Amino acid sequence: MLEKLEQLGQEALTALNTISDTEALESWHSQYMGRKGALTGMLRRVGELPKEERPTFGKRANELKNELELAHQARQEKIKTLEMEKAFTAGAIDVTLPGRPVQHGRLHPISQTLRRIYQIWADMGFQVYRARDVETDEYNFQFLNFPPHHPAREMQDSFYVDGESIPNEESVVLRTHTSPGQIRAMREYCPEPIRVILPGMCYRAEQVTARSEMQFTQVEGLAVGPGIRMTDLKGTLTSFAQRMFGEGRPTRFRASYFPFTEPSAEMDVQCIICNGAGCQTCKYSGWLEILGCGMVHPIVLRNGGYDPEKFTGFAFGMGPERIAILKHGIEDIRTFWANDLRFLEQF
Ligand code: PHE
Repeated sequence: MLEKLEQLGQEALTALNTISDTEALESWHSQYMGRKGALTGMLRRVGELPKEERPTFGKRANELKNELELAHQARQEKIKTLEMEKAFTAGAIDVTLPGRPVQHGRLHPISQTLRRIYQIWADMGFQVYRARDVETDEYNFQFLNFPPHHPAREMQDSFYVDGESIPNEESVVLRTHTSPGQIRAMREYCPEPIRVILPGMCYRAEQVTARSEMQFTQVEGLAVGPGIRMTDLKGTLTSFAQRMFGEGRPTRFRASYFPFTEPSAEMDVQCIICNGAGCQTCKYSGWLEILGCGMVHPIVLRNGGYDPEKFTGFAFGMGPERIAILKHGIEDIRTFWANDLRFLEQF
């Protein structure tokens, strides 16, 4: 029996040394070392031996088992190297494998909307004018014909940045709208005619809800020149809406109030979700409000340096978030700032 054991060991080793791939190696292992393998089978038969022979046999069998396991390990290493070498010489690059996907960055949906807006206004001769995010009370309100304590200030609850507990005429605020840029542009270009859009972030101390954020973008527009009329405002804004929302999309103007325009209006486009039939998005009115506008108030023209007897102008202010929400049927304005890739990757 001991002889048989040695014979088996020899046979197993010889077989092992001819093996050159992982698959064959695995079947060798189960053939000799597995639960039903030859060596395991012999170990089980130790009970058939006379008592005095058992220890020697058992010892040798265990030794052999260890030897074979070691030889197996060594062979495994060798085969690995061999297979790797083979792969290299066969041409390491398998061009049929699918590539790893490249992660593309992309523009934020608001940046995309802004670019579309800039493009449309550029086509109509409007230049981008950058004004500042931090303004004085004077520019944000007073020059725009909101005197101190004017009730229209209530609509634009402000962030004051100078730490005064009671805001006053000299307070510094985060701009609540892009309209103060109108004064800055006028003071820079006066007495030339103006056609600018003023994009940027605005800030209001709002209760944050699905419909309002305390930080949002606006695109202001301003045209000043001799003989600019309300019909110019209507035609220009209607043309903008057609380009933004599609040719033939109906628009309407509703009378409104802003201290810095007179007359003032709000422009609606026919609901792009239901085409005017009435739905949840348009609150069953068939119309969606997209901007405020009006003829620049004579006081504002004068504050900008223009003589209102000689110059007139129109202005408007729109919210790109609002426009993106309408265009894409987005339900919650907060998603723009939530930094959730599942949302952002849809645009
Ligand atoms: N500034 C106004 C707002 O934030 C919008 C507006 C701009 C209205 C220009 C008229 C003219 O509500």
